Amino acid sequence: MAQGEITVIHHLSIGIILGSTRPGRVSPQVGNWVKGIADKRADANYEIVDIAEFKLPFLGEAGAEEAVKKWSAKIESLDGFVFIVAEYNHSITGALKNALDLLRDEWHNKAAGIVSYGSTGGARAAEHLRGILAELQVADVRTHPTLNLFTDFENMAVFKPAAAHEQTVTQMLDQLIAWSGALKPLRKSPVGQA
Ligand SMILES: Cc1cc2nc3c(=O)[nH]c(=O)nc-3n(C[C@H](O)[C@H](O)[C@H](O)COP(=O)(O)O)c2cc1C
Repeated sequence: MAQGEITVIHHLSIGIILGSTRPGRVSPQVGNWVKGIADKRADANYEIVDIAEFKLPFLGEAGAEEAVKKWSAKIESLDGFVFIVAEYNHSITGALKNALDLLRDEWHNKAAGIVSYGSTGGARAAEHLRGILAELQVADVRTHPTLNLFTDFENMAVFKPAAAHEQTVTQMLDQLIAWSGALKPLRKSPVGQA
């Protein structure tokens, strides 16, 4: 770098997307825990993105265009995602699927990590999500923290994660940040927009 040259560092913006919306859900506890680990890294701007707050319509339902516009702007503004995934009937929630289906280009050429929970760590839901993300051109990283409803929660309601999970989250975030940054040039190019 030449003397006097100014380097502007653009931090990546990563959304921690809460994938469940029902009253009494545990996803905010899990999302806030991930955010706490992520914020210590100071390598990106991490924010909670709560699908419930957007009051999204079902795809095709009229009368909530403003809500979809806000959702679109939020996802467009992000470089990568951590999906907080609850397992419902061996898949992701209807709310998350609908939130994904409502947009298209806004997801493209970005990276994602998955943190899931359920009776078998939410693994079946997470694997479904990987298939969906492939169609949306979201590159999902390999490391995948799986939280068990019986051992990482008290009464399946109060989140008390085993200490070892923090290391897995850190590894997932390492991969997510690397891929979110690496894909940035594609997001600006005509190839990336195809
Ligand atoms: C409609 C529904 C279906 C569920 N199906 C499964 C399932 O197939 N596998 C599983 O491990 N847990 C299942 N559960 C349990 C959820 O994983 C558990 O309730 C979890 O707390 C849901 O996430 P949430 O609290 O963020 O909504 C189901 C829960 C609901 C409400």
